[in-house]
Amino acid sequence: MIIRDATADDAEAACAVLRASISELCRDDHRGDPQILARWLANKTPQNVAQWADGQGRSLLVAVEDGAILAVGGLAHPGEITVNYVSPQARFRGISSALVAELERRALALGAREIALLSTETAHRFYLARGYADVGVPAGKFGTAASYPMRKTLGPVR
Ligand SMILES: CC(C)(COP(=O)(O)OP(=O)(O)OC[C@H]1O[C@@H](n2cnc3c(N)ncnc32)[C@H](O)[C@@H]1OP(=O)(O)O)[C@@H](O)C(=O)NCCC(=O)NCCS
Repeated sequence: MIIRDATADDAEAACAVLRASISELCRDDHRGDPQILARWLANKTPQNVAQWADGQGRSLLVAVEDGAILAVGGLAHPGEITVNYVSPQARFRGISSALVAELERRALALGAREIALLSTETAHRFYLARGYADVGVPAGKFGTAASYPMRKTLGPVR
């Protein structure tokens, strides 16, 4: 498995991973509500994903194995994780851990001293276990029950 910057050519496959991850893994968040799901998925289009890969003040990374995209992670420069989604087939293999570690290295290299994100209910435990702390009050996004604002202070590059 390698982690690399996404290109516009990855947009279709990366978008499919985002949509499957949200639909199939984030059930604790959308609870099968079609309206919540529709709002959440609305901007997850190949066209938008291609734009997110333009490198203009943002990075979009993909984890790739045997030519297949297994996870997608995004960073708004310098220090905000904007997306972090793993394919349902690739869950619990350490891929998101590796992707988040790479996003943290990028942020640090860009001068960030802390990194922020809005966690799903689904990923909350994952981020807590990786040194992120809750900051502020959870608020619903797309109509979900809770999104958790979280932050982590970044250490030296390893
Ligand atoms: C939770 C999630 C982000 C973890 O990604 P992953 O690639 O499967 O994670 P890894 O294999 O790197 O790490 C596994 C971690 O998942 C967490 N985890 C384990 N079982 C879990 C479960 N049933 N439900 C939720 N999280 C679980 C633990 O923190 C575990 O780490 P640990 O083994 O050190 O305790 C991913 O499985 C997921 O569901 N993603 C859905 C999309 C999403 O919510 N993205 C975040 C947007 S902010």
